[in-house]
Amino acid sequence: MTHPLLQLRDDALREIESATEEQALETTRVKYLGRSGSISAWGEQMKTLAKEEKPFIGKLLNEVRNAVTAAIETRNAQFRSQKESGALARIDISLPGTPHEIGVLHPLTQMWERSIEIFRRMGFALADGPDIEDEWHCFDALNTPPEHPARSEQDTFYLPDGRLLRTHTSTVQIRTMESTPPPIRVISPGAAYRNEDIDATHAAQFHQIEGLYVDENVSVADLKGALEFFMRELFGSDTAVQFRPHFFPFTEPSLEVYVKSRALKGGEQWIEVAGSGIVHPAVFEQVNKARGDKAYDPEKWSGYAFGLGMDRLAMILFDIPDLRLFAQNDLRFLRQFA
Ligand code: DAH
Repeated sequence: MTHPLLQLRDDALREIESATEEQALETTRVKYLGRSGSISAWGEQMKTLAKEEKPFIGKLLNEVRNAVTAAIETRNAQFRSQKESGALARIDISLPGTPHEIGVLHPLTQMWERSIEIFRRMGFALADGPDIEDEWHCFDALNTPPEHPARSEQDTFYLPDGRLLRTHTSTVQIRTMESTPPPIRVISPGAAYRNEDIDATHAAQFHQIEGLYVDENVSVADLKGALEFFMRELFGSDTAVQFRPHFFPFTEPSLEVYVKSRALKGGEQWIEVAGSGIVHPAVFEQVNKARGDKAYDPEKWSGYAFGLGMDRLAMILFDIPDLRLFAQNDLRFLRQFA
């Protein structure tokens, strides 16, 4: 004869198997395993059993309880996975998906990235400085006296407190030397501002990469080597680079840099792309005064500096006719740089 506990187990398993939804399964669970369920009732009865019966019935009760609990869990898991596949079945996989447009980097950003990568290979580190500057960092420290035309209010944007939007990234030369003793080899990409009448080649905000290299015995040959390498990496190996004498207050000698390349549109024309020169001793003296030491002794250290016009370089490289396109957010323009 089947033991009544085994009978209970078989009844429970049959009911669990035939339950068609979660609520019915829960009812079955309560009926057998709930506090006053019929399997639980056997637990209560244990007390009244004869001593020699207890181990056998106790073991059997455990087995029955475990078997029923496991069956309920299995059935519950089946319900859950049915529900999930039911939800999936309602998705129409033949519907077209949501298109995601892939963006492209702005041509100026692409220009930064290419340029920075080339200078990094030459061992230049990145330096930074603020767009809102004081006159000292923008002019005095760069050997540009108060009467210099670049300081005129018509040429620059001044704030009411006397500060200004920097007119060039050369300010970062000063900030870097103030905080760091030589030797130094940095570039600093950033925006510069001038009070310009805006046209196809002039903007009130434009972009530069400043470079500064200070070490012992730095010469014009080092400057030419570095910039020629840069231009050839950027525009191709048959690019010609020309250095023409010029004047900047903070360099002596000063040189303007021109390039010409058959790879470029308008091929046989020299195009001006940078200012450069050998750092003026007066700049080192200003830095020393601000530092309160003689770290930049002009008898010991020398350096070259340069400022590259990023907008100009990008216009040449990508054959862009009008500077204003960079700031107009016109997707027809921007999409061409994918
Ligand atoms: N700061 C100059 C400008 O914006 C460019 C320049 C010229 C930067 C000579 C330099 C330099 O570092 O040595 O027109």
